[in-house]
Amino acid sequence: MSSSLQCIDCAQQYPIERALYACETCGGLLDVRHDFDDLPAPIDSRVFDERLGALDAPCNSGVWRFKELVYPGIDDSAIVSRMEGNTNLYELPRVAAFAGVDTLFLKHEGENPTGSFKDRGMTTGVTQARILGMERVACASTGNTSASMASYAARAGMQGIIFLQNQQIALGKLAQGIAFGATCLQINADFDRNMELVRLVSEKLGIYLLNSINPFRLEGQKSIMFEALQQLRWRAPDWIIVPGGNLGNSSAFGKGLLEMLQAGLIDRLPRLAIIQAEGANPLYRHFRGGFRQFEAVKAETIASAIKIGNPVNLQKAIRSLEWTNGVVEEVSDQQIMDAKAVIDGVGIGCEPASACSVAGAKKLVERGVIGRGDTVLGVLTGHVLKDPEATIGYHADQLANLKPQFRNEMLQVEDSFEQIAAILGERGSPASF
Ligand code: F0G
Repeated sequence: MSSSLQCIDCAQQYPIERALYACETCGGLLDVRHDFDDLPAPIDSRVFDERLGALDAPCNSGVWRFKELVYPGIDDSAIVSRMEGNTNLYELPRVAAFAGVDTLFLKHEGENPTGSFKDRGMTTGVTQARILGMERVACASTGNTSASMASYAARAGMQGIIFLQNQQIALGKLAQGIAFGATCLQINADFDRNMELVRLVSEKLGIYLLNSINPFRLEGQKSIMFEALQQLRWRAPDWIIVPGGNLGNSSAFGKGLLEMLQAGLIDRLPRLAIIQAEGANPLYRHFRGGFRQFEAVKAETIASAIKIGNPVNLQKAIRSLEWTNGVVEEVSDQQIMDAKAVIDGVGIGCEPASACSVAGAKKLVERGVIGRGDTVLGVLTGHVLKDPEATIGYHADQLANLKPQFRNEMLQVEDSFEQIAAILGERGSPASF
């Protein structure tokens, strides 16, 4: 079974044994390209369905269950896994009503072992690091990539090195990086600058880079689409909606969907909608400008996970939009936090960036891009516990420039039965309890 690295611009190929993140000829992004024709048997959805509920590695992972599409030539013993994936697909009528559609499914990637979709890309990325004999791995991160990499590096006995901004990193994520024993560098620089720094440091010091510019990350993240479509009995929805930051998921989804179509697993491509925060919207601006002149932005948003102004996977995301007749939308911090409160309020919950999927769906329905009768599948990228400060700030009405529309106010009460009963709107005496 042959796989190779291939430049998305000039099609130059390289062996997968190279630790390479850009084409040496033209600087273009690299794909991992598999020759599916070399597989012993054609791809068949029934094989993937039979593996559901597998108890043993590697098929107990929601990534490696699809290994023929993810890394066909893999030696199973090389795999570094935390049984990632296998996340739930929720059908949520109340959230659908908020967004203005009849049918809304939310795929909760926050249910991964470290609480975000990154685990799907990290199992493939760290596995590749092991295959290449790497002892050190590194990433720049707004928090989730670093939490995930720290965990998988620890599992594999590698040193994880994480480049974090020293402002606005969500506490849950920071705690994970530290707890999992990574070398944590808090740098006085934003994510985009940290990304430049980690690329430089990795290249000069021979450290394996595990940001989503590493094409093996995206091979794992494709499985979000495989698993979601499997949960929909291989029937494609009309829309897939995903938040866009560094644009790894957007890129992976396009590739995965196309591969599914080519393998005959689905019979049509859904349309992709990528949602950015208004204050971190370089792809949105580029889309509106007809993809003529790209300009990075200085990012600012409460959704710190996607506070990114110069996404590394830009060209792959544009390719995904072309393949799927996709669209890009922007949403305000207010819309993000209100959508999050609605998702939280049905008992599911997510971190702020994830709520872009629902806020974006609502806006696209209001603009008439998504029809009320369309089937919509949104991806929730991170767990509600990742960013407790944003959640509490919202409900305490302490967020600047934001007025919570769905507030669950905390009530301060004296140590008194009467007071508690009065607040609960009831009468009674302690004796009756
Ligand atoms: N949602 C969450 C919760 C994220 O952590 C990220 C990215 C995104 C969405 C955006 O995904 O980059 O594939 O477009 N977080 C990265 C990190 C950048 O460092 O954790 P993308």
